[in-house]
Amino acid sequence: MKRINATVRGIGHHLPERIVPNEEFEKFLDTTDSWIKSRTGIESRRFAADGETTADLGSKAAINALADAELDPIDIDTIVLATSTPDNTFPATATKVQSAIGMRRGYAFDVQAVCAGFIFALVNANALIRAGEAKRVLVVGAETFSRILDMTDRRTCVLFGDGAGAVVLEANEAGEGRLERGILSTDIHSDGRFRELLYVDGGVSTTQTAGYLRMDGKEIFRHAVKKLNETAQLAIDKARLDAAAVDWIVPHQANYRIISATAKKLGIPEEQVVLTIKGHGNTSAASIPLALSEAKARGQIKVGEVILLMAIGGGLTWGSVVLRW
Ligand code: ACO
Repeated sequence: MKRINATVRGIGHHLPERIVPNEEFEKFLDTTDSWIKSRTGIESRRFAADGETTADLGSKAAINALADAELDPIDIDTIVLATSTPDNTFPATATKVQSAIGMRRGYAFDVQAVCAGFIFALVNANALIRAGEAKRVLVVGAETFSRILDMTDRRTCVLFGDGAGAVVLEANEAGEGRLERGILSTDIHSDGRFRELLYVDGGVSTTQTAGYLRMDGKEIFRHAVKKLNETAQLAIDKARLDAAAVDWIVPHQANYRIISATAKKLGIPEEQVVLTIKGHGNTSAASIPLALSEAKARGQIKVGEVILLMAIGGGLTWGSVVLRW
């Protein structure tokens, strides 16, 4: 029997218009542009306008990905949308995107794995395609983290931004051996013992409020470097490759120092790491598809190249995907 691979057919992103440079935080917080830049690599981020929602950003990214794929909404079977900042408690933000892009068939649902959300969404979409449940899946990462930031907490509010990215994954018959394209391997984990290292202090069933993001940055940093290295290595092994075969790392953009330490541990030169943190900040589940889309627009990623995606987020959740573009 022929093996089916999930290959990327199109990609797109959308960022809100409002650019928020580090200097804006200096006006109301005991912080500086140079502290933020040197500790995180962030210089500015985008914040959604009043009334602009996660579904609005996700829909625009989805439309851009469809245009890049030269497909119409009718060609899509499924939307898997990763977010921790949904428009409503229910229904799924994915169904709002489904309706906004004019998709009148198939099904749409959300995945919640915080900053690792896009990796978890890709793993779900890949499994649906491999199982024959869908031929084409729109995988979206969309967030409005600005809505859950405590603007009096300098340890967290300077780190995050809003945005969305999307890819169209498509079923294709697998090629021979190492040159097959699409998703080559996946690796995901969670460990709920660490849930209080990064969480939101509100929720429907607890406080009936949306709550604000709380984080133990130092501990997250420690887990991030270790766990990202482990999952990346596992995914590379599962793809039967070695780190030298990786052309690009497209990591979750949380902190330049985490990204740099992880690339070093893997022995992959920094010139092969896609970086967008400078202008995006941490956009949680949107950060990987945003970075992938920008990398493609910059001409960094070419057909046939091997890409390692990796992320860690609240839960804790973490994982990697190796794919051939
Ligand atoms: N401006 C100025 N000073 C600050 C700021 C700020 N924005 N934030 C914290 N500080 C201060 C602290 O209060 C502390 O001061 P103190 O010693 O007087 O108490 C000092 O800077 C050092 O604080 P640390 O937390 O030790 O700083 P650190 O070097 O660890 O950097 C950071 C903090 C950037 C949050 C880092 O720990 C980090 O990046 N952690 C990873 C967390 C992360 O990236 N989370 C994103 C979400 S999770 C994810 O996506 C994986």
